[in-house]
Amino acid sequence: MELNIDYVRKQFPSLSGDWVFFENAGGTQVLQSTALRIGDYLINTNVQLGASYEVSQRAGERVDEGIRGMGEYINASDKSEIILGSSTSMLFRLLSMSMGEFFKAGDEVIVTNCDHEANIGPWRTFEKKGITVKEWKINRETFDLEIEELGKLMTEKTRFVALTHTSNVLGTINGIKKIASFVHERGAWIGVDGVAYAPHRLPDVQDLDVDFYAFSFYKVYGPHYSILYGKKEHLERLPGVNHFFLEKEIPYKFQPGHVNFELTYGLLGLKDYLIGLASVHSNGEKIVSFRKGAEIAFDLIAKHEEKLSKRLLEFLNCKRSVRIIGKTEWGREVRVPTVSFVVKGKSADEIPLEVEKHKIAIRSGDFYARRLIDYLGLSEQGGVIRVSMVHYNTLEEVDRLIGILDELL
Ligand SMILES: Cc1ncc(COP(=O)(O)O)c(C=O)c1O
Repeated sequence: MELNIDYVRKQFPSLSGDWVFFENAGGTQVLQSTALRIGDYLINTNVQLGASYEVSQRAGERVDEGIRGMGEYINASDKSEIILGSSTSMLFRLLSMSMGEFFKAGDEVIVTNCDHEANIGPWRTFEKKGITVKEWKINRETFDLEIEELGKLMTEKTRFVALTHTSNVLGTINGIKKIASFVHERGAWIGVDGVAYAPHRLPDVQDLDVDFYAFSFYKVYGPHYSILYGKKEHLERLPGVNHFFLEKEIPYKFQPGHVNFELTYGLLGLKDYLIGLASVHSNGEKIVSFRKGAEIAFDLIAKHEEKLSKRLLEFLNCKRSVRIIGKTEWGREVRVPTVSFVVKGKSADEIPLEVEKHKIAIRSGDFYARRLIDYLGLSEQGGVIRVSMVHYNTLEEVDRLIGILDELL
């Protein structure tokens, strides 16, 4: 079954304008349902939580519904495993403050050279404590993170491996389930950045068997707000970063200043949307479960995205001046529709300036994957040009872009 793109686009008021948004890996457009829920919370239940009066009780129920919803969404086993905060960068930073106290001099951790800095910098600070930080480098030709290379880096002292589910530049989907099992067999924990994966596929933290997993809702059709999942047994053992009297309470010990109430409630806009989308494609069957709705919806999303990737990559693959920075294949198991490339003899920033004259938003740069861009030798030419699509983009939009790029490349 094909994705009903008209239904999809109607749920995003900003898509009714004349801009084409291909900078979605930077941030997606927001769902109407999310915006309405946030407004509703602020107008009707904006009080302190935990008091005995009725409005406070109702506000508490709304926030709790948001947290439980997100637990169901990523298939956590308990809502206490859900930590919410302002950004993935902030949540990893907080986690690193806790882990940095827990790990000891002589321990080892492994980071990649292809992650966004949010999932590298915090763990690199451990070096100051005498913890060894090793770097798992991608293969420059295939752009793969090879498990054999990880095997060479891991020792009995390795405590933690941090990597991305999907690179925000390369678009490649890493085989996290396999890597997690490899890391666990060697006695370490795995922490995964799902920011560039979550807009395109549905994470399942139990199936992946990850120890920590984070992503940001402003890239998943929602507000500037983020989630960090941690396995309960780890969160219980790790030291907190909140007030001393909250030391025993998860997730509160990792949430200084509490969650943002209106945004937590607003996250349920994603539930409204995915259930609605699944129902539209389910021949009248009424879908009520968030997880089930999300599974159906993301299957349709992945199929549609594959078509978008195919159309753009087939065009770019034929251009002799273009080098794709990432996989040239479009299969949905291999990649998401985040496509980066460079053009022979041109600085990366030249192309977006030309393209945006036609009301199409794309972008160039290193996208905070600075180490990757340096490693690939692309810094001097301004990094890469990135076209990052999501399921609300259409083949017609891709064709519009291709028409313009055809003149420029
Ligand atoms: C792959 C990836 N990880 C992490 C981040 C950081 O997310 P946040 O802005 O929520 O800190 C980004 C943001 O662009 C990203 O693309």
